[in-house]
Amino acid sequence: MKIGVFGVGYVGLTTALGFASKGHRVFAVDKDETKIELLRQGKVPYFEPGAQDILERRREMLSFSTDPALVVREAEVIFICVGTPSLPDGSADLSQVEEVARFIAEEMQDYRLIVEKSTVPVHTAYWIKRTINLYRKKEVPFDVVSNPEFLKEGTALSDFLHPHRIVIGAETQRARDIMGQLYRDFKVPIIYTDVKTAEIIKHASNSFLATKISFINMVADLCEAVGADVEMVAEGMGLDPRIGKEFLKAGVGFGGSCFPKDIKAFYRIAEENQVDFSLLKEVERINLERPARFLKKIKKVIWNLKGKTIGILGLSFKPNTDDVREAPSLKIIKLLMEEGAQIKAYDPVAGENAKRVIPSLQLSPEPYSLARGANALALITEWEEFKNLDWKKIKDLMETPIIFDGRNFLEGRKLASLGFEYYPVGKPPLGKRNG
Ligand code: UDX
Repeated sequence: MKIGVFGVGYVGLTTALGFASKGHRVFAVDKDETKIELLRQGKVPYFEPGAQDILERRREMLSFSTDPALVVREAEVIFICVGTPSLPDGSADLSQVEEVARFIAEEMQDYRLIVEKSTVPVHTAYWIKRTINLYRKKEVPFDVVSNPEFLKEGTALSDFLHPHRIVIGAETQRARDIMGQLYRDFKVPIIYTDVKTAEIIKHASNSFLATKISFINMVADLCEAVGADVEMVAEGMGLDPRIGKEFLKAGVGFGGSCFPKDIKAFYRIAEENQVDFSLLKEVERINLERPARFLKKIKKVIWNLKGKTIGILGLSFKPNTDDVREAPSLKIIKLLMEEGAQIKAYDPVAGENAKRVIPSLQLSPEPYSLARGANALALITEWEEFKNLDWKKIKDLMETPIIFDGRNFLEGRKLASLGFEYYPVGKPPLGKRNG
């Protein structure tokens, strides 16, 4: 099929690469000339495992352009994957979606199937349809369907190619048939439903996952207070299939481009419809409190932070991505800096992106120079390589061997036996020296 993609961010580029790898011809467009130029040169503009490989292998199936008219002319199925950032009141800014709808309306000569892929509030398909009806130049038939994307950064392509489910919200048989054809060889359950239900499935899924994380983070606080172990609690809960073990990892809170924005937008759309979903306000509040709580813990151990050097391990909002949007690391670093601490940071790929947000941030080229002279290390992102560091060497390089593990990622017992004081989340510390 000929597929058009508006927007080459994480969702758009993954959609483009994913369908190209399935043998479809893809026309992708974005306003951002730098990104398009990079893609034309065969370079993925951000770090995402597997993306570069598909881009190289499927070059002949992919066109990148800044000309939206080309996409509308060439592609029968057009995916809208543009950004839907938060407005100050928390609702989603849908102006880019409207802009795409207008482009399509103005250029459309034949039937087009328009697919919402970006995370949008319920009713957005209605507005896309209305916009096209208002601006189209010819009486051309079209359909708007909702086909939310559930990809996670860091595993985006495998999530796209091997999803747990495909959700298709469509109002006509023609639209359902085309979407069914497109996903023909994906061997997973396909849920066909109406457009509004599909839109809600996406927001409800992300909001529920965020709720799970805030829930376990509160359990972690309680475990810390009474000396219990949140990881064992999560395991004990998660074995119940009604609960499930995923997304019960306590830590320094959730970040990224989706959860923080989606819980706000879902709350707002509920409010606009006179539904009080204040549960989500609590989920947000708990998450916003995490960095300050982590700081408090550091202060309880380090005492005065002024003049102390803290090394930050990991800056991206999660491993395997260079994305620092809403990253807990940045909030924690700012709080530590306000207390007068000297901050050094290391991340395998996200350093430069973090420096754009905090220009004064001192980056270390590798973890050992980060450790040299540090009073403590704080692990904020669980990059796999941190597990295999030479911790004995790190201990010898540090001024005082103290580790705050914001993700319960390291082997605490081993570190304690090496002489570290080890502070996990929601579990008793190990190796603590008293008095
Ligand atoms: C999320 C959804 O998982 C995905 O389905 C949706 O399409 C987009 O939003 P993403 O933001 O890429 O994906 O990352 P995810 O792996 O979900 O992690 C989000 C945040 O939650 C990260 O900061 C992560 O560290 C945190 N998290 C996740 C926890 O703190 N604990 C957990 O148990 C799981």
